[in-house]
Amino acid sequence: MMEDSPPSSDKASQTIAPADTASVRRAADILLKGGLVALPTETVYGLAADATSPEAVARIFKAKGRPQFNPLICHVPGRKAAAQLVDIPPLADHLIDAFWPGPLTLVLEKLPDAPVADAVCAGLSTLAVRAPAHALIRQVLKATGRPLAAPSANKSGRISPTTAQHVADDMGRDVDMILDGGPCHIGLESTIVSVIGDTITLLRPGAITDKAIESATGVHPQKPDNGSSVSAPGQLLSHYAPRASIRLQALDKKPDEILIGFGDIEGDFNLSPEGNPEEAAARLFATLRAADALAREQNKTVIAIAPIPATGLGLAINDRLRRAAAPKDSKPDNAASHGEGQNKG
Ligand code: TXA
Ligand code: MG
Repeated sequence: MMEDSPPSSDKASQTIAPADTASVRRAADILLKGGLVALPTETVYGLAADATSPEAVARIFKAKGRPQFNPLICHVPGRKAAAQLVDIPPLADHLIDAFWPGPLTLVLEKLPDAPVADAVCAGLSTLAVRAPAHALIRQVLKATGRPLAAPSANKSGRISPTTAQHVADDMGRDVDMILDGGPCHIGLESTIVSVIGDTITLLRPGAITDKAIESATGVHPQKPDNGSSVSAPGQLLSHYAPRASIRLQALDKKPDEILIGFGDIEGDFNLSPEGNPEEAAARLFATLRAADALAREQNKTVIAIAPIPATGLGLAINDRLRRAAAPKDSKPDNAASHGEGQNKG
């Protein structure tokens, strides 16, 4: 499939396809033959493969340079398809009713006979499932009739893609097709929770906030280090790493820096002049990429980033910024995590 690939830019421009019926059909064909299709979700672009095929799933790990012990999220159209794969306790049903389709991933006990390649769960007894809201991935899910394993379509440890061009830049030579659905409107990966009995554990903050989860269910989500045995193995401290290093909580710009502003703090870029967290989230990854390119162009070594209030969606933004700023050889940051600091999604 990929052996005779032309150079990245040529292949990438051939592989970006418009969002139309013919492209959806071609994407489904490629997936059913075991290929890789990058496609938009409402959060970030995903790198999709048929989750039932061990060979196809292996290609995802290879293309991303992802460690085998970092499991993948299985994308499904909705509850009915999820129920073929995982056990859904009543509390998870509340979450599904409230937030699916949408940017919420549920980590649940996998059914023993779930038709999913072992590598998707990376040896865990659980499986992460999510029903995305974006029309394009929903059409592809329908056309394949298969669960689709899809991590973010970036090289492991790098910044997640929010446009088709980001995917082409990073992974152009590694994918068979990139479906272009325009910029992702949320811009941060899904919220991930584990549900065991009456306990919800927040494994990755996202657009579905802990407050929204609490008001939908009456249950306050726990932190993973609160004596819980669950973790998201890919939640490493260093992630979303640009080439330049990062200085957080910057109120001004030093000579060797590119400044990303927010609200009144102007910069080379501004995530949201109005100080709107939704806008800042949607622009975050594209702005980090642009700032990194500008830093390189101007021979600067640091990207400084203005403070963003750590409430609501700001919690998820600050989570990503903290990981982007972490030393690139740092270890996992939650007590229950395993691995040697190589584990990135
Ligand atoms: O918004 C999203 O969730 C995007 C789009 C494409 O759907 N996907 C995404 O996938 O962010 P990825 O692979 O980049 O991040 C998935 C995270 C990883 O940190 C992984 O360790 C964790 O989910 N995860 C997957 N399965 C898990 C499981 N069974 N238990 C705990 N964590 C799991
Ligand atoms: Mg990722």
